[in-house]
Amino acid sequence: MSIAAGNSLEHHWLPFTSNRDFKADPRLMVKAEGVYYWNHKGGRLIDGSAGLFCSAAGHGRKEIAEAVYKSMLELDYTPHFQLAHPASFELARKVAALMPGDLDYVFFCNSGSESIDTAIKIALAYHRSRGEGQRQRFISRERAYHGVNIGGVSLSGMVRNRETFGAVMPGVAHMRHTWLPENRYTMGQPETGAELAEDLQRFVDLYGASTIAACVVEPIAGSTGVLVPPKGYLERLRQICDKHGILLIFDEVITGFGRLGAGFAADYFGILPDIITTAKGLTNGTIPMGAVFVRKGIYDAFMGGPDEAIELFHGYTYSGHPVACAAGLASLDIYKEEGLFDRAKGLADYWMDGVHSLKDTRNVIDLRNLGLIAAIELEPLAGRPTKRAFEAFLRCYDKGLLIRTTGDIIALSPPLIVEKSHIDQIFGTIAEVLRGLD
Ligand SMILES: Cc1ncc(COP(=O)(O)O)c(C=O)c1O
Repeated sequence: MSIAAGNSLEHHWLPFTSNRDFKADPRLMVKAEGVYYWNHKGGRLIDGSAGLFCSAAGHGRKEIAEAVYKSMLELDYTPHFQLAHPASFELARKVAALMPGDLDYVFFCNSGSESIDTAIKIALAYHRSRGEGQRQRFISRERAYHGVNIGGVSLSGMVRNRETFGAVMPGVAHMRHTWLPENRYTMGQPETGAELAEDLQRFVDLYGASTIAACVVEPIAGSTGVLVPPKGYLERLRQICDKHGILLIFDEVITGFGRLGAGFAADYFGILPDIITTAKGLTNGTIPMGAVFVRKGIYDAFMGGPDEAIELFHGYTYSGHPVACAAGLASLDIYKEEGLFDRAKGLADYWMDGVHSLKDTRNVIDLRNLGLIAAIELEPLAGRPTKRAFEAFLRCYDKGLLIRTTGDIIALSPPLIVEKSHIDQIFGTIAEVLRGLD
């Protein structure tokens, strides 16, 4: 292992990491297969978070590796500006077929952050193309996470992510988040709280619908610690958007590709948004790729000008990269052949029971779940927010379990190939760790 060979950790500035702390006692992953990682000390860890909610089909999938290798040899790169290659069309067709309704048009990018910024630009350009260019305002939500690019950060509702950068894109208003104290320990979707969607109506009343381009929400707020929407909440957002010509954008970077036991949260909740943003599971996390799906009416609105005119002044050097497309196609094949979305659905109740078995465990103050995603919220240590959860992360790591923490919340989202025995191990290890924490 190169660290043993004297390789310096100095030069790589790690993202969302306490660099000095980490470099003093690094955690390096050197191998991954199935639901397991192996670290540089030889320890094996169950992946309780599918990497970062990415690796739905588990790690080390040979089918994806082979497809990527073949693509590298055949066509390593081609631009997508006035040029293309066949695989991006094939991927677009296949992935659009998974989408509900007429979300049939796909714009490729390279990450979740790019997909959100792309969606923002499509929303603005769509309204402009219809003579409603004054619709420039976006409605987001407290505790939202929409990646780290400037558009997404402006939508962000997490203070540490936005306080330094947050005011860059003007005209963003935030609805209240959907966590309510009376909904603690709810199994699945809370019964109460749908009225929080009325915040959107209040912004319509305050700013005028004609100034609002879109309402952007994660169907389940993931990175802030898994906030499951109350029953009726998303439905109400859809109604208000419909009434006022506001686009509804679902950020499905986490909930996409089977996480809830359905293709997308839009399927799970039975609500058709106008735009869906995705990334992560699109390629099983193997090659960076994002994709924005828009309804037919949106795509068509761009297609009215002269045939030779560029319709959208937006795109990335690596949009629709052939190697990423190969990884995407191979991932979709695995999802389909192994029925992984149904598999997640079949495990959801077992998962829920596992989560809620922690109810009276020391330090736990709330539990939330839906599909194969869950949050265990811990009482913060007095005056030391985040410390208790991070300590839990370190102890789980030492005991062979990789979890993700955000604030004082443990967020879990295993690969969809997880077995019941792994689920038992995940919650057993967490219970043991929590009982031993200050
Ligand atoms: C809902 C949501 N949107 C956007 C992003 C950003 O994705 P990326 O890190 O690929 O830019 C994330 C990442 O976790 C996310 O959870």
